[in-house]
Order: sequence, then structure tokens, then C-alpha cells
Amino acid sequence: MKLLITREIAQPVMDQAAERFDVTVNTSGPLNAEQAAQAMADYDLILPTLGDDFSATAFAGDLRCKMLGNFGVGYNHIDVDAAARVGVAVSNTPDVLTDATADIGMTLLLATARRAGEGERMVRAGQWEGFGPKVGLGTQVSGKSVAIIGMGRIGQAVAHRCHYGFGMNVVFYNRSRKDVSMPARQVNTLAEAMGADFVVVTVPGGAETRNLIDAAALSAMKPHGIFINIARGEVVDEEALIDALENGAIRGAGLDVYANEPHVPERLVALENTVLLPHLGSATHETRQAMAQMALDNIIAFADGQQPPQQVN
Ligand code: DGY
Repeated sequence: MKLLITREIAQPVMDQAAERFDVTVNTSGPLNAEQAAQAMADYDLILPTLGDDFSATAFAGDLRCKMLGNFGVGYNHIDVDAAARVGVAVSNTPDVLTDATADIGMTLLLATARRAGEGERMVRAGQWEGFGPKVGLGTQVSGKSVAIIGMGRIGQAVAHRCHYGFGMNVVFYNRSRKDVSMPARQVNTLAEAMGADFVVVTVPGGAETRNLIDAAALSAMKPHGIFINIARGEVVDEEALIDALENGAIRGAGLDVYANEPHVPERLVALENTVLLPHLGSATHETRQAMAQMALDNIIAFADGQQPPQQVN
């Protein structure tokens, strides 16, 4: 069977794939909609990832491919309903990236609160004039409130770190009632959650959460509030966020994701009160290896005539 891997992944997993399938590894960047549709016609199996455009048009033409083993937990780049309608199975890679992604959430929360980005830039620019009682003052995180928007696996891992690691008071907003095994209070409205000292967004992307954090939601934040997004850029109205940062309506933002990656708006880059990472959530050697293995295991299960363990549609 012909397998297309749309981006280079961990070598041992590509070697393992080559033992079983006729493998092509695409090295020319993310697939656009046309290339994705062509791949659906040319291959039996595809291992895609974030940035590839498997929206509805990918499923509208000839379909040799019946299985997409996505590398990543998020699959908002794949129209899973359109895939299901034409009998294409889609799987993802949950759990294995929870810790790494929660760690990036904490990296951003701490770096934004303590103005680490500004400090780093100051040192590198040779502008640091030495210790001073008023130099680089940021915000203490212990004792502060943090709201987790979306209390799934990653949200809970962030909440755990905030409470047990940093002594923060956790509230959370989730579309359904959620019992969690830690001190954390579920609030009923997004606006209530947005009023916390720190807000961390961890909801899945896709149509249901697009622009969830709009201008109205941002207006519920406090002027000292700090906003963190490790979910998907499309969840936030980026222009409204930039307005809030520029106007001082909120104190800062730590972002790992953007509405139109890899484009990062100039206005965001120009701001001192932002910490901007290049979608590093799951980017550790260990996690990326585990994601690759899980994506391939799902594909092998499908090729063996079984249901992929992490099928999502
Ligand atoms: C995911 O798995 O959805 C991540 O965002 C990619 O690292």
C-alpha cells in the first residue's frame, strides 16, 4: 500500500513505516487544498499534520485514500465530517502531548507575568544597566487566580501545574459539567472566567470554538489580566486581542498559536507586552516521537483491517 507522510517525522518511525508500506515523504512544505485532493487520489494512506489543508475539497474528487492518520491531537485542518461522509477514517494523537503542551502553557504564563521576553531582549541589546529595585518588575503568580478555558486533558494538566506547582487558585469554563479531581471551581459563564488574573485557552479548534474569545469576551478581562493561548489561533479574534493589548485594556499575552500561521501580525510583534512562540506546544523530542508512533500505529491498525484506536470520526 502507498503511504504519504506529508512532513518529515521521527526517523525510526519513518523507517518502521518503510518496512510495511511503499512510503513517500513530502519535503516541500504543507499541502494546499489542491495538493491534498491529489494526494487523496494517489495514495492509499496518508499521515498528515497541522498546516495541510484537508478541508472539504480534499474529499470531493477521486478517493484512493481511505485513512488519514493525523500527527497531532488537533485536527481542525481536516474536515472530519466530509471525510466520514465518503468513508475516510481519521485518527489523531491524544494524551502523548498533554504534558509537553501544558508545559508550554506554563512557560508562557510565567514568561509573560515576569516579563522574561522584555528582559531577554534588554540583555541581548546590551541595554541592561544592572540590578535595580524597580527594574523589570512583573507580577507574582502564586495566590493569583487562573481561569482555564476548556477543561480537557491539556486544560487539566495546566490547572494541575498552576495549583500544585505555583499555588494559584483555579477556576474553569467548560461547555459541559466536568468533575475534576483537584481544587478547581467551574464557572457558568465565559465572562466570569475572563475576569481571572490569568486566562489560559485550551479548547479544541474548529467551527464550534472559532472566535469564542471575541471583543466582548476580552472586555471582561481585568486591566491587569494576562491572556495565554496554547489552543488554536482561530479561537481568538486576533484584532480584538491586539486592540486590548495596545489600549492597555489587558496587561499582556503569551501566544503559541496564531489565526493564520506562520503569519504573525506586525502589530503583535511590535508590542512589548507579548511573549510569542512558534507553535511549540508539543515540540519535545520525546513527544514528537510518541506522536509519530501513535499516528503510524493507527495507520497500521487500519491497514490490518481493524478500527484505528484513536479514530475521531
Ligand atoms: C496538536 O497536536 O494539535 C498540536 O497543536 C501540534 O503540535
